Amino acid sequence: MTLSSRTARLALAIALTATAAACAPGEPTPTRTAEEIILGFSQVGAESGWRTANTTSIKEAAAAAGIDLRFSDAQQRQENQIAAIRSFIAQRVDVIAFSPVVESGWDTVLQEVKSAGIPVILTDRAIDSADTSLYRSFIGSDFLVEGRKAGEWLVEQYQGTTGDVSIVELEGTTGSAPANDRQQGFAEAIAANPRLKVVASQSGNFTRARGKEVMEALLAAHSDIDVLFAHNDDMALGAIEAIEAAGRQPGTEIRIVSIDAIHDGMQALAAKKINFIVECSPLLGPQLMTLVERVHRGLEVPARVVTDESTFTPDQAKAVLPERRY
Ligand code: AHR
Repeated sequence: MTLSSRTARLALAIALTATAAACAPGEPTPTRTAEEIILGFSQVGAESGWRTANTTSIKEAAAAAGIDLRFSDAQQRQENQIAAIRSFIAQRVDVIAFSPVVESGWDTVLQEVKSAGIPVILTDRAIDSADTSLYRSFIGSDFLVEGRKAGEWLVEQYQGTTGDVSIVELEGTTGSAPANDRQQGFAEAIAANPRLKVVASQSGNFTRARGKEVMEALLAAHSDIDVLFAHNDDMALGAIEAIEAAGRQPGTEIRIVSIDAIHDGMQALAAKKINFIVECSPLLGPQLMTLVERVHRGLEVPARVVTDESTFTPDQAKAVLPERRY
């Protein structure tokens, strides 16, 4: 050991002893204060009301925790996220968090992050990599459960009725975790009643504009639609415009179940244009910042943090709307 490295170790030991009193027993001593943490965050985009609320939550929570947030909007493109992550490595941020646009194709860039010694936290959406050492924690909803809840509600609605039920599905972004899992969860649940049939399923990319366009095409192609399952409220709201423009009644002639529970969706639910909403909470910011601080301090973090979520009927939507934050 050289003299200078021995001196550096001694200085570190003195510093650790001096701050040890501030730590919980058995927990490593923080080496830097929260103010000094630099977090690189790559967001999916601004495709939905959910996403806007999620971005606000992350920015507000970072500011409240005194974390220096480097925020990058990928505009729903994976290549933009990969470029942002590489830029965070070049900037030598302390922690990288991101909400992956799609599930696959992350191993190469995440190996680069790992080699740079930067911890990663997945936020909102999962990746399908077999190598779980590429990230420290994943915080977000269980999308499979969300899809199941939507399907179970529908099964209940058609209990004791006769005849086939034609369902159209507006999928989220192709290849994304919420689109894959919500579709699977819904399909599993409606399998309980073979009369519930998905007659068409198409991506609306989680946006209101695309939801409207795709619903217009679906209405033109299928005269017998009984139910719309939309993977998010924004696409359901776009579809409502298309349904009304086609002279049909959303909520009665065509029943609608969607996911998110954003403010506009809840208003449509209260007005009975949507029949049921499964909640997906975007308010991940505070829990994310806690994880960021812990991984930065070298503390244990849970591999998975699942968000608490509920479901809403029209009456429940009316009751909670006045206090709804997003
Ligand atoms: O990943 C969460 C999903 O992404 C939300 O349900 C949807 O609105 C958003 O775009």
